[in-house]
Amino acid sequence: MPKALITGVTGQDGSYLTELLLSKGYEVHGITRSTEDLERSWVGRLFQDSTTYKKRLFFHPGDLSDPAGLRAMIDKSKPDEIYHLAAQSHVGRSFEDPEGTCEVTAMGTLRLLEIVRAMSKPAKFFHAASGEIFGDAQESPQTVDTPMAPVNPYGCAKAFATQMVQVYRRSFGIFASNGILYNHESPRRGENFVTKKICRAAAAIKLGKQNELLLGDTSAKRDWGHAKDYVRGMWLALQHEPPEDFIFATGELHSVQDVVEIAFASVELDWKNYVKQDPKLFRPTEAQCLVGDPSKAETVLGWKREFQFADIIREMTLAELEG
Ligand code: NAP
Ligand code: GDD
Repeated sequence: MPKALITGVTGQDGSYLTELLLSKGYEVHGITRSTEDLERSWVGRLFQDSTTYKKRLFFHPGDLSDPAGLRAMIDKSKPDEIYHLAAQSHVGRSFEDPEGTCEVTAMGTLRLLEIVRAMSKPAKFFHAASGEIFGDAQESPQTVDTPMAPVNPYGCAKAFATQMVQVYRRSFGIFASNGILYNHESPRRGENFVTKKICRAAAAIKLGKQNELLLGDTSAKRDWGHAKDYVRGMWLALQHEPPEDFIFATGELHSVQDVVEIAFASVELDWKNYVKQDPKLFRPTEAQCLVGDPSKAETVLGWKREFQFADIIREMTLAELEG
């Protein structure tokens, strides 16, 4: 039975990846900073499955700022594959806490790479990189060869981590791949990301629980896909030899305004009556034209996305309506 270790197992991607790997017959070890609230997280529902939980699904407390604890846990569980998804993943918050973001997202990745380098049989290593490394992109769509030009602390942290993965691959022969992921969403998306905020508000307004929705820049555009498609890409990336970097994206740009219109139409409301822009929610700088070219992943890995933008937003809104 192959063994996988997932950092950030309680996050949106961690929960879908856990389910995917279990369905493929893996033993899965998940790391979270606190095991106390696990039952209420998306992976908590797996506790009910007595054939899996504590038989081939295990959770361990661990923090990226504690390399000794991580090292002991990895030495004990001896994974064949590590999926490194843990991060301070919010761009807006990274402007408020640049040091904390770099500590977790940049240095946390380097610490894990050092642990892998010291393993007697180094695990294969997947890093959840981000399209934000391209920030003020010189070309669109971006490929793995597009120069990095991050425009916020989160993008800088991810650029550092992405380059460290490349250095460890080239210099130390570690099997390490970057999946350069563009925005991906689902009903499990964290509540401070814009799609979730909009879909949740549309449903709450429909149910009479909220009166208005304040947003930042609604003209901002992103390349939005579905998390289920992207975690499949993570697994495919680690099955491909030799290790390489891949872009996982849709190649399509949509605006925040498009999300608003689809979400409110899904619950038969006119968005004009409820949505306002609030200058306080604008970011100091906004990445422009972040759209990825997924053709390398499609050709080399056989990756193909199954979900379309409008369907994702409708699924998220209806999920909020159902509670
Ligand atoms: P997410 O929902 O924010 O989950 C990230 C997880 O990281 C959290 O559940 C948290 O788990 C863990 N974490 C945070 N700080 C930690 C620390 N100091 N030590 C250990 N764990 C820590 O993120 P996601 O959307 O699933 O994304 C997964 C990864 O892909 C992230 O690295 C993100 O930057 C990257 N990415 C995401 C997207 C996207 O659109 N979703 C696009 C590009 C890249 P606990 O609170 O349980 O510890
Ligand atoms: N969060 C948020 N809240 N974003 C808003 C709002 C708002 O009220 N109003 C407008 N936006 C705009 C943001 O300025 C941004 O242009 C866009 O909506 C998307 O914001 P987020 O959903 O917060 O995601 P992100 O693009 O900044 O970052 C996500 O994608 C990256 C990959 O491109 C995160 O998942 C990152 O972890 C990931 O790396």
